[in-house]
Amino acid sequence: MKLSRILSNQNGVSRQRANALIAAGRATIDDRVCSDAARDVSRFETVRVDGRVIQPGQSALYLMLHKPAGYLSATRDDLHPTVLALVPPELHTDLHIAGRLDRASTGLLILTNDGNWSRRLTEPRVKLPKVYRVTTAHPITADTSRCFAEGIWFDYEQLRTSPASLEILGGNEARVTIYEGRYHQIKRMFHAVGNRVTALHREQMGDIRLDPALAPGDYRSLRREETLCVPE
Ligand code: URA
Repeated sequence: MKLSRILSNQNGVSRQRANALIAAGRATIDDRVCSDAARDVSRFETVRVDGRVIQPGQSALYLMLHKPAGYLSATRDDLHPTVLALVPPELHTDLHIAGRLDRASTGLLILTNDGNWSRRLTEPRVKLPKVYRVTTAHPITADTSRCFAEGIWFDYEQLRTSPASLEILGGNEARVTIYEGRYHQIKRMFHAVGNRVTALHREQMGDIRLDPALAPGDYRSLRREETLCVPE
């Protein structure tokens, strides 16, 4: 919301008066004077006029969770436990998942209340790498590598996936890096080359790596430098 709007909404002053207060340098955002009435202010920023709080900044929350198998990447479900059951209720407000994992999949899951940030993390256009360790029913061949690098045609969406890289780790195991996050993307890519995923574990999103100290079901806050790997 624009700064002038916040002042007139919360402070009960006219838009004109709000603009005058801002122009006079009496408004601050996070303790810095802001004289731009059109400045977009997020709900995580604190706005003051003459030192009086007009909007208290909400705390932004960025969590990494080691998702165990069997939990749904959803905030509520009637049938299955959701990943929110692994986070204390006092943190649930506005928390959402940035890049789901299937119920059987494990590994890095990011939860946040910052929608702008999570959009940038998951937006296919931004092309942040997502790294998965995959186990398959049949041996993974060099031909699979070539197909993934060329991109796989997804009939339903009528698109070709971005080039993905595949590092074969052993007969039926590989590390796959994709740059988007389409519905069941990895499973569908292996299916397209006649194979089947039997286990899927996400290791990394952008520069955010699953912390090896986190046991399945555990979570921790992201460090500031981890949140900064998501481009503005
Ligand atoms: N691709 C899949 O098929 N499943 C996941 O959980 C994540 C990526």
